[in-house]
Amino acid sequence: MPRKKIALIGGGQIGGVLTQLIALKELGDVVLYDIVEDLPQGKTLDVAEASRVDQFDVSIKGTNDYKDIAGADLVIITAGLPRKPGMSRDDLLTTNAKIMKTVAENVKTYAPDSIVIVISNPLDAMVTLFQKVSGFPTQRVMGQAGVLDSSRFASFIAWELGVSVKDVNAMVLGGHGDTMVPLVRYANVNGIPVMEMLERKYNDSGKAKEVMEAIVQRTRMAGGEVVKLLKTGSAFYSPAASAIAMAKAILNDEKRLLPTCAYLNGEFGVKGFYVGVPAILGEKGVEKVIELTLNDEEQSMFNNSVEAVKKLIEDMSRLGF
Ligand code: NAI
Ligand code: 2OP
Repeated sequence: MPRKKIALIGGGQIGGVLTQLIALKELGDVVLYDIVEDLPQGKTLDVAEASRVDQFDVSIKGTNDYKDIAGADLVIITAGLPRKPGMSRDDLLTTNAKIMKTVAENVKTYAPDSIVIVISNPLDAMVTLFQKVSGFPTQRVMGQAGVLDSSRFASFIAWELGVSVKDVNAMVLGGHGDTMVPLVRYANVNGIPVMEMLERKYNDSGKAKEVMEAIVQRTRMAGGEVVKLLKTGSAFYSPAASAIAMAKAILNDEKRLLPTCAYLNGEFGVKGFYVGVPAILGEKGVEKVIELTLNDEEQSMFNNSVEAVKKLIEDMSRLGF
């Protein structure tokens, strides 16, 4: 059976880790594209030279030519610029939208049958724009944010409760921004509600709520917390790992239920927008959006997050995209 071909558009911090993880897991052959001359060639050479030590057997190629992504089964996009001092939100949106438009045109030309995972920020706008420009079926275009936000939420819960993170199930819905919706009521440790465990730990329901509110806030601000520490960039190990979980689910047709920035066609009462929701990922891409019952408070937070996504899309269209 031929190996799958995975094209990575953007050879920066996340693109480099994606290359290494794909190689280590032997998920497929990699083509890493970047506009900066020699950068993708250097990164892929470096990763490939570890193949003997790490015992992986895949082809890894760096390129500045879109022709090399021809026939890719899966495309993961991290191309874009981070926000620089003095740059407004609109400036960043315009810059990254221009980049995403070019990326989408080239992916449409050279990998027309691919499934696409967008990571570039602002995530909800970039995935929307990619789908619009490429004209790909919405099922084949999705964004990565929820797997990362949920992993952060689960990690903070595990650290607070002193349990293995492997046993924590916690999900974050909504847009990839301050309005994201960590689902506290559904969070559990192998079936035991997290709130019940917190109440037992503190023997005080008020204190338990306070601790959970701090975890929720930390989750919402987690991207910024890393930026503040790194100073020169944003998180890249965990975003890459999160996209790899999605890629693996698609390439191996795993039917995993993962929080995904997926196109909604009436689900959750939303039509025509990309929003973070639980979805089944398999060989066809986003195979099904899974709805769940939200109480009034959760619904109101979700609606608020959807409004923030709509505003972002409006801003992008005001800027001509
Ligand atoms: P980075 O700055 O290290 O890499 C971006 C790469 O894009 C650079 O190598 C640059 O040369 C390349 N690039 C710029 N214009 C291009 C073009 N026209 N075509 C191809 N490549 C182009 O950034 P990093 O850390 O890898 O992050 C990438 C993106 O992912 C950023 O937009 C960041 O905000 C976003 N991000 C998203 C997360 C999520 O959960 N969705 C989490 C963390 C970051
Ligand atoms: C993150 O969540 C900045 O979107 C990026 O780390």
